Amino acid sequence: MADRARLGVLISGRGSNMAALLYASRAADCPFALALVASNDPDAAGLTLAAAEGIATFALSHRGMARADFDARIDAALREAGVTHVALAGYMRLLSPEFVERWAGRMVNIHPSLLPAYKGLHTHERALAAGDSHGGCSVHLVTAELDDGPVLGQTPVAILPGDTAETLAARVLIAEHQLYPRILADWVRAGQPADDPLSRVRELSLALPEAREKLSHGAPGFFVEGGKFFAYFSADHHGNGITAVLVRTSGVEEQAMLIERDPALYYRPPYLGPSGWIGVRLDTGDTDWAHVGEWLARSWRLAAPKRLTRLMDVADAF
Ligand code: GRF
Repeated sequence: MADRARLGVLISGRGSNMAALLYASRAADCPFALALVASNDPDAAGLTLAAAEGIATFALSHRGMARADFDARIDAALREAGVTHVALAGYMRLLSPEFVERWAGRMVNIHPSLLPAYKGLHTHERALAAGDSHGGCSVHLVTAELDDGPVLGQTPVAILPGDTAETLAARVLIAEHQLYPRILADWVRAGQPADDPLSRVRELSLALPEAREKLSHGAPGFFVEGGKFFAYFSADHHGNGITAVLVRTSGVEEQAMLIERDPALYYRPPYLGPSGWIGVRLDTGDTDWAHVGEWLARSWRLAAPKRLTRLMDVADAF
């Protein structure tokens, strides 16, 4: 799994959504971890829970502070904690434009209505007064306008006869606790570069000039348009249990030298070995992707048609 996103959660009170995020993050495959829980109310109950669960907390009363100054302090605390994504969870403060701008695209909120209906406060009262069949909750990206950013996910909650704002809010809250961690996880995952070895080899390979991909004997192969193959991704080829990328070397002498120098990293692949190709293992547990990138670039050069390498040689001369 890619490094987990480091979530900063901003709360003002109870913090039950923060708790839902916190316990969701305990799952081994959850793509986020809580790096900081911050509050504008030092007495917020959620802070006590977060601290008891070993999460760093930050509390600062906003009273008597200009909004932008207060937000700058929160921002500094988030940065210091290495936060990558922010989740608002019952954070009862309007945010300064600077803060929204600073976290644009990386900050979400949960709101207890089916947006765009009922932005702002008293959402349940308003849904009941309107005679709606459903209330619900929404997770949305935070933009400068209150409760207005693109909606990432929603759960409708049926309104029952005799519901009051309190009874409806209690059921919507159950839905919130399910929705928020799931949408956050999907959102974080969608923004993460895939980090399985094939995806990374593909990304590095296809970044090279005029590189294309094509299956070759069932293995993903990468070639230069109008030229030859420069890499093959090899996963458990004929049950050998090895994950590797095969690249060109200058010939069998270099190949032999590399294998002698680092037999844990390099091997002579069947079929292509006699032509001077080498296998660079991607299953050693500490793959140096910059090094793999260098190999791919070098192999690309050996496979590219003259018209491309000539241009590059000219560029290199400067
Ligand atoms: C939730 O209903 C949330 O939708 C709204 O504020 C409430 C916060 O509750 N933004 P909690 O602090 O997460 O328990």
